[in-house]
Amino acid sequence: MPDKANAPLANLEEWEDFLKVRYPENGQPGAPGFQATDPNKKQEQFRNYETDARPSVREFYRLNHRHQTYDFVQAKRKEFLSLSRRQMSIWEALDYLNTLVDESDPDTDLSQLDHLLQTAEQIRRDGHPRWFILTGLIHDLGKILCLYGEPQWAVVGDTFPVGCAYSEKIVFHQFFADNPDSRVPRFQSRTGAYSEGCGLDHVCLSWGHDEYLYNVVKDYLPQEALYMVRYHSFYPAHREGEYQHLMSAEDKKMFAWVRAFNPYDLYTKSHERPDVEKLRPFYDELIRQYFPATLRW
Ligand SMILES: [Fe+2]
Repeated sequence: MPDKANAPLANLEEWEDFLKVRYPENGQPGAPGFQATDPNKKQEQFRNYETDARPSVREFYRLNHRHQTYDFVQAKRKEFLSLSRRQMSIWEALDYLNTLVDESDPDTDLSQLDHLLQTAEQIRRDGHPRWFILTGLIHDLGKILCLYGEPQWAVVGDTFPVGCAYSEKIVFHQFFADNPDSRVPRFQSRTGAYSEGCGLDHVCLSWGHDEYLYNVVKDYLPQEALYMVRYHSFYPAHREGEYQHLMSAEDKKMFAWVRAFNPYDLYTKSHERPDVEKLRPFYDELIRQYFPATLRW
C-alpha cells in the first residue's frame, strides 16, 4: 500500500494528466520557437488550473514545493548519482519499471512499457532519427526511483531550479512560501547560488527522474537526446520560457530539441496496446547501437 503522506497521487499518470490540462494538445504546440502570445492571460489560466486541480494533485505539488530545497537536492544527488544500486540492461530496466503498476487507475490498462513504446513508435512514424526514437523509449526509466521507495514528489513533477528565485510561472507557486529556502536571502535573488548565463549544467533543478536518468545514460547518447532526457520535465523553461538568464547560448540552442520532444511525451499515450514481441527486434538493435550490455543504475 502506498504511504499516503508520500504518495498523494493515485498514480504517476495523475501528474501527467494535469500537465495535459494545462498544456492542451490543440492549444499551443511545444514546437521549436514557441512563445506564449499573451503572458498575462496565461497567468490567469494557470491560476484556474490550480483551482480546478484534483485534491491529490494539489497535495502532490504542496509536498513537492515544500520539500524540494537546495540541501535536499544535494543530498539526493549524493545518494543516487554514484549509480551503485544495480547493474541492468535497458530491457531489464524497462521490465523493472514495468513492475510499477497503477492498480487504482481505471483508465490505465496499459503498462509503463506500453506507454514508452507508444511514445517511441510515434517518433518513429514521424521519421525522426534513431537516437530520437530511442530517447522516446527510455526517457521515463528514471521513474524506477519510485521502486527504490522514493516519494512521488521526488520522482515526478515539473522541475525548477533550487537555490534561486522561484519563477512566478511555476504552477502552485504559493506553496513555495513553506519551503525553508524562501527564507534564505541568498537563495532568493534572481541568480541565487548561480551566475548570469552560467549554463544549466551548473544549475541544480529540483530532484526527480530526469536528472537521475541523465546520469545513467550521459556517456552514450548525443547531446540533443541528453537535453531531452534531462529537461523534459522542466516546464517552467521549455513551455513558459523562464530561467533564460541561467542558460548558456548552447542551452538556448538545445532547448529547441526539448521542445520538439515535449508533444511526444505529453500526447502520444493511447489505449492501443503496442505489440511488444513484434517490435522487440527493432528496439533490440536500436538499444545495441547506443548502449553497452549493462549500465550502472
Ligand atoms: Fe518523464
